[in-house]
Amino acid sequence: MSRILTGVQSTGVPHLGNILGAMQPAINLSNDPNNEAFLFIADMHSLTTVHDAEVLREYTYGTAAAWLAFGYNTDKNVFYRQSDVPQVTELSWYLNCFTPFPMLANAHSFKDKSSRLSDVNAGLFTYPVLMAADILLYDADFVPVGKDQKQHMEITRDIATSINNKYGEVFVVPEPLLDEKVMIVPGVDGQKMSKSYNNFINIFLPEKKLRKQIMKIKTDAKSLEEVKDPNDSIIVDLYSLIASNDKTEELKDKFRAGNYGYGHAKQELFEMIMDTYKSEREQFDKFMNDKALLDDILAKGAKKASLVANETLARIRGKVGYKS
Ligand code: ADP
Ligand code: TRP
Repeated sequence: MSRILTGVQSTGVPHLGNILGAMQPAINLSNDPNNEAFLFIADMHSLTTVHDAEVLREYTYGTAAAWLAFGYNTDKNVFYRQSDVPQVTELSWYLNCFTPFPMLANAHSFKDKSSRLSDVNAGLFTYPVLMAADILLYDADFVPVGKDQKQHMEITRDIATSINNKYGEVFVVPEPLLDEKVMIVPGVDGQKMSKSYNNFINIFLPEKKLRKQIMKIKTDAKSLEEVKDPNDSIIVDLYSLIASNDKTEELKDKFRAGNYGYGHAKQELFEMIMDTYKSEREQFDKFMNDKALLDDILAKGAKKASLVANETLARIRGKVGYKS
């Protein structure tokens, strides 16, 4: 049995890129009978950037609802809010005391923002240590993450190894699961879809708003009559990620034939999204309209997570010289 653990920040409702690139692969891993998954909403990490309580709460619920709508099985696995298991902050302190300053100063998560140091809070600086604590607290074997988290995984492994070398085996040294050939889902402007570029498609939006997002997809200025290149179209790229090969070929043929406008193609993409994610959209709304149910599911998860967290904390307390 392998323990798979991953965290997702609650800095917005997951978009199509997050869903196809991270959520669906993680859910597939969690369904494998040989795996036990720990999946949590990293709402403490989100506090490094989101400083509006209502917004943070809503994003956290939205993230939880999205994972549940896509079928994450919380009976077989563990699902919790990071802030509901605050033991992680205690471990984070211990790890801080073994983390060389330059290692954090070199972390991309800090470096990318360090041109204006006055805007960098200390939480952002020690972000990788809290992430290491997330992972080491639960003895995770494997951590599925995007390429951008590779350095954080190296930091986690370095901290775990240095504590193990000093005190004997305390932590499981986790392996990252980096899917090198993971798809990059384009946003409506053709760049990588990202919350930070505001180019995302939120498949959970009400119909009209979702359609509006899709209608924003960038195209060239070809007229309706003109023949179009399906291999140079964000609409086709997005459609192919969701539709069957046959359906995608049909759409490409229409591009090549002419007399088919980009507006028509966007409408087809919109309908395909509505169709493909009909049940997930309904489930999402069901959860968002029943926060008590979400709280209940997350509280059960936090209880399961706490059992493991308490054991690990007792182990590390004893090792560093406290009463365990
Ligand atoms: P964002 O760029 O929107 O802030 P995050 O950095 O929070 O997204 O990414 C969360 C997860 O979703 C990561 O595992 C990341 O690799 C994946 N992901 C984000 N955007 C995309 C995308 N456009 N295509 C594929 N995967 C993505
Ligand atoms: N830093 C991760 C991200 O932005 C989120 C995260 C926090 C995480 N703690 C984690 C991922 C532990 C994996 C394991 O995507």
